[in-house]
Amino acid sequence: MRVLGIETSCDETGVAIFDTGTGRGLVADALYSQIAMHAEYGGVVPELASRDHTRRLLPLIQQVLDDAGLSRGELDAIAYTAGPGLVGALMVGASTAHGMARALDIPVLGVHHMEGHLLAPMLEDAPPGFPFVALLVSGGHTQLVEVRGLGRYRLLGESVDDAAGEAFDKAAKMLGLAYPGGPQVARLAEQGDPGRLRFPRPMTDRPGLDFSFSGLKTHTLTAIRQLERADELDDQARADVARAFEEAVVDTLVIKCRRALDQTGLKRLVVAGGVSANVRLRERLERECTKRDARAYYPRGRFCTDNGAMIAYVGAQRLLAGERDETGIMKAVPRWP
Ligand code: KG4
Ligand code: ZN
Repeated sequence: MRVLGIETSCDETGVAIFDTGTGRGLVADALYSQIAMHAEYGGVVPELASRDHTRRLLPLIQQVLDDAGLSRGELDAIAYTAGPGLVGALMVGASTAHGMARALDIPVLGVHHMEGHLLAPMLEDAPPGFPFVALLVSGGHTQLVEVRGLGRYRLLGESVDDAAGEAFDKAAKMLGLAYPGGPQVARLAEQGDPGRLRFPRPMTDRPGLDFSFSGLKTHTLTAIRQLERADELDDQARADVARAFEEAVVDTLVIKCRRALDQTGLKRLVVAGGVSANVRLRERLERECTKRDARAYYPRGRFCTDNGAMIAYVGAQRLLAGERDETGIMKAVPRWP
């Protein structure tokens, strides 16, 4: 089954083709990122995002078909991100998918964006087997999930306020760095002195697997103001703040992953979503896993953030199992638990 996957939930237009045939897999993928367009506003502007998806989507679909050497008629099904995300942006992908599926008379299915992130490591050469613990860390979510199979998910814990990526983006703004902040904070933190400042590790002093990152945001702002008042906010001090912030987030995530592995007794940890690109997080989790004879799995760099490949993959698995959208009913679900 050749499945076209479409991702338009936020600020990346992603398209890919996944072939479920033996020895096939991902046959083409393409991405257009709107980051540069939103950067001057310091965050994603929903209306601009939708308009840009309408401009980029059809040419990207043509591009992956050309790259795969396929014609439209050779597609067997279409999967698209139905949510969660920005509703206008989601509707571009949903209506394009449904329009094409109707014209080609093939099945179409809306899938959950976070399930895409969750299973993105399945696109790698040595994918994890089930069951595993997954840490999903993106701009909108921070969740620990026990994964027993396709669609067999148990939420172990999640953020009660800001997501980890959101906290990175806000800290970046306070430090005068451009959007999206995660990679920029990480780069600045490399120059930081790890011993100068220490930020709290929220919710690690009590049992449980939930997270909270909004206090860390306030703590960062207070630290910056104090340095400013003491006339000490030079480049080194900004790097020290970035370092303390990154260490606090990473440490918190690592502590909870360790707990989740202990609690479930599982030996596989999948880390996915934009923040999984963070090098310090990967190093620390790698060390933790080695210590307990466990193994960590990540998507390749460009599949950590939003992409069409993960949607084509999840869609293909569910379409193979017979799932389809009801005829003519497209789904765009901005909030989808
Ligand atoms: O998964 P994603 O592309 O989009 C959402 O579905 O949210 O994640 C984007 C988030 C942003 O908040 C970005 O700042 C963060 O991932 N991010 C990082 C890094 N690269 C991206 N955070 C920390 N370190 C990084 N290297
Ligand atoms: Zn995402």
